[in-house]
Amino acid sequence: MPANRHDQAVGRLIERVTKIIMIYIIHIIKFAIMATVICFAGPLTIVQTEAAAKEIAGGHEIAAQLPKLDNATCLTCHDASKGELKATETNGNSQLPHGIDNIRLGKSVHGEMQCIACHKEITDIAAPHKKGAGQKADCIQCHLELWEAAKKENLTKEKARLGVVVRNIETYKNSFHARPNKEDKSHVNAACDDCHNSHTFNVPPQGTSRRTDWHLTIPNVCGKKCHTDELEEYATSVHGKKVLEEHNQKAAVCIDCHTTHGIANTSKDTFKISITENCGSCHTENLKSYRDTYHGQVNKLGFGYTAKCYDCHGSHGILSPKDPESKVHPDNRLKTCQKCHKEATQGFVTFSPHANTHNLGRYPQVWIVSRFMWALLAWVFAFFWLHTGLWWYREARDRKARKNHPDWRKETK
Ligand code: HEC
Ligand code: HEC
Ligand code: HEC
Ligand code: HEC
Ligand code: HEC
Ligand code: HEC
Ligand code: HEC
Ligand code: HEC
Repeated sequence: MPANRHDQAVGRLIERVTKIIMIYIIHIIKFAIMATVICFAGPLTIVQTEAAAKEIAGGHEIAAQLPKLDNATCLTCHDASKGELKATETNGNSQLPHGIDNIRLGKSVHGEMQCIACHKEITDIAAPHKKGAGQKADCIQCHLELWEAAKKENLTKEKARLGVVVRNIETYKNSFHARPNKEDKSHVNAACDDCHNSHTFNVPPQGTSRRTDWHLTIPNVCGKKCHTDELEEYATSVHGKKVLEEHNQKAAVCIDCHTTHGIANTSKDTFKISITENCGSCHTENLKSYRDTYHGQVNKLGFGYTAKCYDCHGSHGILSPKDPESKVHPDNRLKTCQKCHKEATQGFVTFSPHANTHNLGRYPQVWIVSRFMWALLAWVFAFFWLHTGLWWYREARDRKARKNHPDWRKETK
């Protein structure tokens, strides 16, 4: 049927046109959706990430699904420069993450490093962390390996500072601080990071003015956390006043007497012998005069029992001998000597531990005796040489006489 066929053809045409229109509409909608998605995608992801971070901060499992372990992510919780750190609630226990000063970390010798390069045990960003099997960050282990690698690559010259670290480690290993603590055997007395902080470590190079400033902080490094009593007493001493009040770095800080990484137990002879040299590295004159005394001679032979500098002067509270509180002030001196010389009387302390022969004003007797001895020596020598000279003169004359009388020897026989 032509009319029917015509209707069919029109129907198909309409069908096709609607299809095409539908396809166009679908495409337009698709593009519209895509455009919307593109327009909103950026902010949306940020919003989503922030939401995730908030979730993370809440200690939820989502963290495990987004293990992005870069420094920025770690710092979302650990950054101390962003004001107060947020505590995290886990099983009723609220735990505060430790704050990391990111600015100081950036300026430290490790400023370029990733957190997880050191914290191999941290494998997630959940709170609390599910600690992985990785080793805890450790100066010693890490730096021994770095130095071995530098040696293999022949880079020991370029990386000389890494060698300094290893030398300090070797010295430290024999020190009192490297031994297990008496009360808590699982800890050493003091580890590298008790005195240094891996995050801020930046001891300036030797010989710079920044090193000088750093040097003045040393009493606090030793005394703030651990040796509070010693620091308190030290602050009252000549040395402490010079360093802490006058910022004069010539006076002794803890490490000048105790050494830095090789600190010995003060009850051992090694300490008792070496401490004398340490005082003497600054007080050269006093060391010299001390060495001339009985005490000094015995100490030099390697015995710690005689009087050492600190037996007479004290250690952390050393004062000028003119100070009435000084252990060697004339009023207190007898008591100081009596610690060892129980029978000592007032006459005993006329002995001058630092008497020298070149200070007439201070040690006149010693000066006079020494000059007398020199004069005596000069006279003895003069007499001796004169006597010898005359003797030779006589001998020469006798020989000459013998030459002139060749048979004289026979005659005398
Ligand atoms: C969701 C917040 C959050 C994030 C992100 C986070 N931490 Fe922590 N972190 C904590 C909390 C809370 C603690 C204290 C509880 C604990 O010991 O797990 C902690 C503890 C630590 C500790 C000490 C562990 C110990 O044994 O004392 C280290 C190290 C640490 N985080 C490193 C990292 C590193 C590295 C990253 C990045 C990969 C990171 N954290 C990311 C919250 C976080
Ligand atoms: C050069 C290595 C190193 C780098 C880099 C480093 N740390 Fe540490 N971190 C240590 C050492 C060493 C300790 C102390 C020993 C320990 O507890 O494992 C420590 C301790 C911590 C602690 C425990 C609390 C404390 O202060 O003792 C947290 C938290 C921490 N680090 C987070 C971070 C974060 C976050 C970063 C990156 C922004 C980072 N660390 C970078 C070495 C490093
Ligand atoms: C997990 C590894 C790791 C730990 C832990 C670590 N360091 Fe380092 N340290 C490095 C790396 C890597 C460098 C850079 C090495 C280079 O320059 O090639 C470095 C550099 C240094 C430097 C500077 C060397 C230079 O070239 O100037 C010093 C000093 C130093 N570290 C001391 C320490 C001290 C002290 C501690 C502990 C309180 C410590 N480090 C903990 C890995 C570590
Ligand atoms: C008892 C505290 C203490 C301990 C423990 C300690 N140090 Fe030190 N360290 C110091 C002091 C103080 C100085 C500064 C010395 C100076 O100015 O002469 C220093 C200096 C350094 C320097 C810089 C040396 C230089 O000449 O530039 C390095 C590197 C160093 N220490 C690494 C270590 C390492 C590695 C350990 C662990 C094996 C460690 N320290 C353990 C107190 C300590
Ligand atoms: C002028 C040298 C000198 C200085 C500076 C010095 N010490 Fe000592 N220290 C000694 C002598 C000597 C002894 C051993 C005799 C004694 O016990 O008094 C000693 C002993 C110690 C002991 C063993 C316990 C004790 O008290 O007998 C500690 C701990 C100590 N010093 C810490 C410090 C600290 C921390 C500082 C810096 C604030 C410091 N010392 C500065 C000379 C010094
Ligand atoms: C037997 C005790 C005794 C010993 C040991 C001793 N001193 Fe003295 N020291 C004194 C007396 C007493 C004075 C003050 C009297 C004087 O002027 O001779 C003094 C004075 C000093 C002074 C003040 C400056 C001066 O020359 O008058 C210094 C510094 C000093 N001693 C350092 C040392 C050093 C360093 C050692 C160790 C190498 C040491 N002393 C060992 C008793 C001692
Ligand atoms: C790092 C160098 C250094 C070391 C180490 C050192 N001193 Fe001193 N000491 C000084 C300086 C600087 C003064 C201040 C001198 C002044 O005021 O004229 C001083 C002052 C003194 C004085 C007072 C001197 C006076 O006439 O007022 C005595 C006593 C003394 N020291 C004894 C010691 C003894 C004992 C030791 C070792 C246990 C020691 N010192 C270690 C640098 C040092
Ligand atoms: C830490 C202990 C100690 C202190 C403090 C001490 N001495 Fe001595 N002194 C000795 C010993 C030990 C001998 C050796 C004694 C011996 O074997 O005969 C000695 C020997 C001497 C000698 C020479 C030997 C003798 O006895 O005839 C004189 C002098 C002397 N001391 C003076 C002093 C004076 C002065 C003081 C105080 C300013 C003093 N001593 C503080 C331990 C000490």
